[in-house]
Amino acid sequence: MQIISAIADLRSALKGRGRVVFVPTMGNLHAGHISLMEQARAHGDTVVASIFVNRLQFGPNEDFDKYPRTFQADCDKLAAAGVNVLFAPTEADLYPEPQEYTVEPPAIQNILDGEFRPGHFRGVATVVLKLFNIVQPQAAVFGKKDYQQLMVIRNMTRQLALPIDIIGGETVRAEDGLALSSRNGYLSEAERAEAPRLYRLLNEIRTAILSGETDSVRLENEAIAALTAAGWKTDYVAVRQQSDLSMPKGVNAPLVVLAASRLGSTRLIDNIEI
Ligand code: PAF
Repeated sequence: MQIISAIADLRSALKGRGRVVFVPTMGNLHAGHISLMEQARAHGDTVVASIFVNRLQFGPNEDFDKYPRTFQADCDKLAAAGVNVLFAPTEADLYPEPQEYTVEPPAIQNILDGEFRPGHFRGVATVVLKLFNIVQPQAAVFGKKDYQQLMVIRNMTRQLALPIDIIGGETVRAEDGLALSSRNGYLSEAERAEAPRLYRLLNEIRTAILSGETDSVRLENEAIAALTAAGWKTDYVAVRQQSDLSMPKGVNAPLVVLAASRLGSTRLIDNIEI
């Protein structure tokens, strides 16, 4: 696996490499990321991963400084997963001057996670567009665990006519159902034992809706109450349309249940499609 940090070096390394599939990450890789790399391998000739902890998508009181950085272990995992090229720029490589031109996503950036993380999706869309321009892939893989992020990137790619296929990768879970996430490492032993409750509650909502329940607001409120009783602080539990994350309207429109809740100081997000 080639490891490259300079934009010009990456561009020359990728000349004549066939169909390039790109998997951007912020490092601290786990089995969920590795499954995205495997999907990428199935979709092209050359797999490019990136590791870059993007300051632009963190709020002033968020975990940018303490975000886990495990570069050597990440390189070993990526090489073992058959990644061909790792792009690992420094902040000076990617942001040599203040990033004043940014991508402003539409209203979707202000709902759900965006309501609680102002500016987050602007930061994500900006770095992803910049990475797309640098790597110029034919396809890119993003995990469904960050459902709203995947939608922002899909919509940006379509509306800006970027010639890139966006592939959504399924969420990988621990045996007890907890979605794998770099932030799970912040959980204490007791919090880790409690954490699967979030997925269990999402599943209960899914089962209720599949059995004909139509009062999604009641289901959301019951889940929030169950989380509160178990010591969580919830930002949202929301049943939404898969197509645009708006409130459920039609009887047959595919739905998704999304949640973000805090256990101690760790904010966990998860979702399940219905
Ligand atoms: O999902 C992530 O890890 C990040 O948001 C991404 C897409 C790499 C952009 O920094």
